[in-house]
Parts: sequence; structure tokens; C-alpha cells
Amino acid sequence: MRKGLVAANWKMNGLSQSNDALLDAIISGLKVVELPEGAQAETLICPPAIYLQQVREKLEGSWIQLGGQNVHPAKSGAFTGEISAGMLSDTGCTHVIIGHSERRELFGETDRFIAEKFSAAQSCNLIPVLCVGETQAQREAGSTAETVLGQLYAVLGHAGIDAFKQAIIAYEPVWAIGTGLTASPDQAQEVHSLIRKTISEQDESVGEQIRIIYGGSVKAANAATLFAQPDIDGALVGGASLVAEEFVSICASFAG
Ligand code: PGA
Repeated sequence: MRKGLVAANWKMNGLSQSNDALLDAIISGLKVVELPEGAQAETLICPPAIYLQQVREKLEGSWIQLGGQNVHPAKSGAFTGEISAGMLSDTGCTHVIIGHSERRELFGETDRFIAEKFSAAQSCNLIPVLCVGETQAQREAGSTAETVLGQLYAVLGHAGIDAFKQAIIAYEPVWAIGTGLTASPDQAQEVHSLIRKTISEQDESVGEQIRIIYGGSVKAANAATLFAQPDIDGALVGGASLVAEEFVSICASFAG
């Protein structure tokens, strides 16, 4: 059985004082949530890079994991403002988000560049959380499958199927991110199952074990119905991860 993962993507939010308060509330909230053994979802927090150290210190001794929101493919060098996979790993990260639609759209990241980041992350033992998803226009044009699979094939072609043994995929329909619109459980399940089938066609056991999480306006009120879908293994949570009660309740939905 695949273990769930609930990941918080704080994006460019928070200051040291509010981070402390949010983490205190999440840590104490998660401790009081009694999850049955085996059903518990892993929890991951991805703060802005400048606060990784702060969050790492706060999380010391807890089972919550730490992740970056971005990484540069190069090992080191003249890339002003960028952060390498080695630096993330050195700072205690176990995961890094790659290919988020905001990076694709606002920062012009291409499939090729994203594939290079994916491999760079793995070379430093970071687990990439690879985001894929279609825009509203693509969905309306009937090209959801083509878009999502195109983004997936770009990384599969570069890194190979074996690389997906240590990776997570996040299906995030762009039209559902930060909009309050959530894909219905059926809409999300359809794409998750397509992603899993595509991976299984290359390697059945990788397809069976890879975790595919959903992102796009996940909140306490809709988490449980999404998690009840057979191919939805957790969530990548933006806005609701900044509200401790919401985030704790989303994590607890896995016990459902
Ligand atoms: P949201 O963001 O939960 O605020 O929609 C999700 C994401 O962008 O990862």
C-alpha cells in the first residue's frame, strides 16, 4: 500500500515570526491527531529558501520533512540568486518541488529545464515532487491528457523510468491553483489514473508504487473525498497550508 503524503507549499509567504507561530501550531496539532498505524500520511513543509534553516530547527525531533520550492540544475557556479541541489540537501531537505506551474508560467521554465532539475535533485538524493497540469484553455480544448503526458514524457525521456522509483508526481490543474476551484474527485482521479497507467506501461512496479498527489485549492473541507480516490495519494497544499488548523485537518484526513 502506498503511504500518503501531504506537502505544504508556502510559496513566497511568511516572515520569521509568523513562521514560528504557524509551525508551533502545526506541530502541536499533528501530535494530537491520532492516526492509525500504517494509515498515516507523511508530512512535508516547503518554505521559502531563506527560511529553510529556521524551519529545520523548528522541526528537529519531529517526523515532518523539509523540502525546497525550487532548485537550479547546475552543481555550483555563476548563477546569481540560484540554489543548488547540494545546498538544499546540506540544509536538511529531503524533497524539492519541480515544475510548478508558477515557475513554468512566470519564470519561463521549459520541459527540458525542468527535466534537468529533476535529475540534479536526484543526484543529491533529493526526492523531486514533479508538478504537471493543464490550463483552463487546455482543458476546454480537450487537451488535458496531451498536456499532462507531454510534461511527464519530457522528464521520463530525460531521466528514464528507473528515476521514477524515487520521485513523486503532483497533478495540479492550473485552473484550480489558488482559485478556490478544485477539480472534482472524479476529474482528478481520471488524470491520476492516466498518469499511473502511463508509468505502468513502462514499468508496472514503478507505476504501482509511485505516489501521485493532487494540488489545487485543497482544503479541510474537500481533502477526504479527494483522498478516497484510488489513485490520489495525498496533496500539495498552497493557501490552506498557511492556516495551521486547515493543514492539520488535511493531514488527519488520511486517517479517515
Ligand atoms: P493552492 O496551491 O492550494 O493555493 O491552490 C497549490 C499549489 O500551487 O501547489
